[in-house]
Amino acid sequence: MLILRNPQEMKAWRLTCGPRTVGFVPTMGALHEGHADLLKKARTTCEVVVLSIFVNPTQFNDPKDLEKYPRTWEADLAMAQEQGVDVVFSPEFSTMYPDQYKYTLVEKDFSQFLCGKDRPGHFDGVLSIVMKLFHLVQPNKAFFGEKDYQQFKLIAGMVEAFFLSVEVIPVPTVREASGLAMSSRNTRLSVSDKKKAENIFRVISTALSATQARQQLTDLGFEVDYVEDIDGRRFAAAKIGPFENRVRLIDNVKI
Ligand code: PAJ
Repeated sequence: MLILRNPQEMKAWRLTCGPRTVGFVPTMGALHEGHADLLKKARTTCEVVVLSIFVNPTQFNDPKDLEKYPRTWEADLAMAQEQGVDVVFSPEFSTMYPDQYKYTLVEKDFSQFLCGKDRPGHFDGVLSIVMKLFHLVQPNKAFFGEKDYQQFKLIAGMVEAFFLSVEVIPVPTVREASGLAMSSRNTRLSVSDKKKAENIFRVISTALSATQARQQLTDLGFEVDYVEDIDGRRFAAAKIGPFENRVRLIDNVKI
């Protein structure tokens, strides 16, 4: 397994791939079973698998969230190895943003709703970094989790808008037995808050309306950012935990 540390190395390596199909899984590390599933899909459908690990500062609107984002480099490499990853791309901020983020990719419609409303600039950061990564990795297929459904839709839209030659493939949300969607942020939850967090999936799957789901989550002690039904899907974001360690969780289900 090769570890590449900067855009130049990535570009040079990409030239050696020839006609082999390249599958790409972009992540921010702190890998869990959800990420593993994306890697499995890439491994079974592509000849070469690239995993990127880059905690992208431009998509964090809250500096505390960035600071507290879990970093588990050694365990991540072990999982990458186990899943048969060929290349791990893990660059530094300065090399990925030689422009200091003066150039930004902005979507003006769907990115303003749901998570975009609560996290101003979040999707500008996501789209900008994914565009940069796509140019460096030049994948034939890229895999994104439905856990972040709004992100998946925005990236698929970006690929269409800019005529990129990459197939964007959605992968269903991987859940714990309790229904809780796997997330890197779950490691920040106390045992009792994690138990409480299991209610998110149950409530959004069973409530008769978004309003009702919102009320139920509020009654359970969540600070609800949103529960909304859009295009046959119910989206929710809610915060939990003490003030100094507040964790924001998101989930969505088909309705
Ligand atoms: P990250 O949160 O690390 O997620 C990386 C990929 O794993 C995303 O496509 C996400 O949807 C997927 N994923 C996370 N949890 C999942 C689960 N429980 N089931 C299935 N897939 C899951 O999303 C990002 O990083 C970043 O925004 C990124 C796209 C890398 C840009 O910085």
